[in-house]
Amino acid sequence: DGDSSAGNGSSGGGDDKIVMGFSQVGAESGWRTANTKSVQESAKEAGIDLKFSDAQQKQENQIKAIRSYIQQKVDVIAFSPVVESGWDTVLKEAQNAKIPVILTDRAVDSKDTSLYKTFLGSDFVEEGKKAGQWLVDEYKDSKDTVNIVELQGTTGSAPANDRKAGFSEIISADPKFKVIASQSGDFTRAKGKEVMEAFLKSNPKIDVLYAHNDDMGLGAIEAIEGAGKVPGKDIKIITVDAVHDGMQALADGKINYIVECSPLLGPQLMDLAKKVVKGEQVPPRVVTEETTFTQEQAKEALPNRKY
Ligand code: AHR
Repeated sequence: DGDSSAGNGSSGGGDDKIVMGFSQVGAESGWRTANTKSVQESAKEAGIDLKFSDAQQKQENQIKAIRSYIQQKVDVIAFSPVVESGWDTVLKEAQNAKIPVILTDRAVDSKDTSLYKTFLGSDFVEEGKKAGQWLVDEYKDSKDTVNIVELQGTTGSAPANDRKAGFSEIISADPKFKVIASQSGDFTRAKGKEVMEAFLKSNPKIDVLYAHNDDMGLGAIEAIEGAGKVPGKDIKIITVDAVHDGMQALADGKINYIVECSPLLGPQLMDLAKKVVKGEQVPPRVVTEETTFTQEQAKEALPNRKY
């Protein structure tokens, strides 16, 4: 690796502006909206010509977009893969065309890591562990069974797989924690509400909801209130992301704990893109820095939150 100085993608305009083709997952969540904005604004600031497409949560749309970027001979392709598997063929096509690829936000499970130059994004397993650790601490003085329901992200996506795995690793050390139902809410509010309504109907005693993102948690809050229960009290809620609406619900006492996942990947992505296009060496993995929020911390942080 470290070859492809693919700078000869003379994109017609005569200037040597880098052209980036970016395939976004969709617009499923507040996180995603903030991420798209970050990518678009950072491209402008970095003087990078951004070609952007929204795959509406469908892998086939992402593959089409990537193929079209290859055809257009862009200088670099960046994408956030909706699911982890099934990318080898199209990534090989990019490699054959000598167009470097950067994974942003989500990973692929390709064995051949030379198919992409770097992967920029969060450590989702770590996020799941942080969520589990809060629960362990919260119930450390109790011996009673804790009934947990889980709203998973998009089936087959890296954040759904990893947030589930990290959480489960931590809570499985104590048998009092029981995940009594776990289903995908596809990272959306509407699905989060719908699945939570079903959970509430079939499970009379739910102590905790672990939602893989704020949006599903916010949808679930509507379902919980609709069932005459108090979110944050009757059912404790842990989510991931820390977008504005999630933080507001945390400050209002409806969510109990949020594990941050930063969507502001744009500036780092543009830096990496410039290096990769020049043929410079970049680290194979760039992990986003992030924190966690309690209700008190949310109240403090909220006024200065950018998204
Ligand atoms: O890949 C990141 C995840 O995707 C975010 O946590 C979720 O909100 C988004 O849809």
